[in-house]
Amino acid sequence: MPKPTIIVHGGAGSIQPYIWQEFRDGSHAAAKVGQQVLDTGGQALDAAIAAVRYMEDDIAFNAGTGSALNREGTVECDALVMTDDLQCGAVASVLGVRNPVELARVVLEHTPHLLIVGEGAVRLARAHQLALCDPAEMIVERRLARYMQMVQTRADFEFDPEKDATDDVLPDAPSDTVGACALDSRGRLAVASSTGGMALKLPGRAGDTPIIGGGSYCGPAGAVSCTGHGEAAMRVCLAKYAYDLLVQGASAAEATRRAIDHLVASIDGRAGLILVDRAGNRAWATSTRRISIGIVESLPEDNHGFMPKAQP
Ligand code: GLY
Repeated sequence: MPKPTIIVHGGAGSIQPYIWQEFRDGSHAAAKVGQQVLDTGGQALDAAIAAVRYMEDDIAFNAGTGSALNREGTVECDALVMTDDLQCGAVASVLGVRNPVELARVVLEHTPHLLIVGEGAVRLARAHQLALCDPAEMIVERRLARYMQMVQTRADFEFDPEKDATDDVLPDAPSDTVGACALDSRGRLAVASSTGGMALKLPGRAGDTPIIGGGSYCGPAGAVSCTGHGEAAMRVCLAKYAYDLLVQGASAAEATRRAIDHLVASIDGRAGLILVDRAGNRAWATSTRRISIGIVESLPEDNHGFMPKAQP
């Protein structure tokens, strides 16, 4: 059996130096939380959820509490969990659910559906005694300040998702989306992803994160979680594209690199992804300036800060 392992991302984009340490520490801590679950015999799904839940509770990340604000100044979250037997649960546009990844798990385990959105999802959370709150309690100061700044500098309040996802337009954008891919001691794989989505998104907008094959995918060959510009990732089915490369025999590193090359060549998209294959090989790649990676072993400094286009 392969060694149990996990890889975590805390978002990709323009993670500015003044908050880079927070992202780096948070991603690393989340990986440790997930690895501990695996090292004590836990399942891949439990490990991936534990890591993502940790980041949902860490206000540095754009997931759960501390998420980016939508156009109306509200936190609206998306999340997905999936296992290698193609079981999946996802939620989109949920308000006031502290840990959307736990709600995605409820969809997987307690409903015949794959994706539940909005008020119906919140009702499901209530029925399963998940932690709920006033949606305003999930707004943190830094995100609110960023929202006010964006609103004030855009008189027309026009939002261009293509431009706004690039580093130049949002120099302070503290990245987006968290995710974890895990392999357990039984050889089972799972992915969990969670996000507040893009700042200034329209209410009700869902990104790639809760879309099977768009921002997250898991099957017998591996688990994949994406981060970055959701509309771009969805247009090329980025997670499934990388997964299919694994099925065709690509190595983990090749699959991540070629998926990002495809994203850039097709639509010049800005996104990153992490992956673990069934042998426990982990890899990541990005077309953004940075991606925050968490694995338990220490990473070389140059692979942990400014990311190359692809990991060797
Ligand atoms: N990648 C997260 C989003 O675009 O919503």
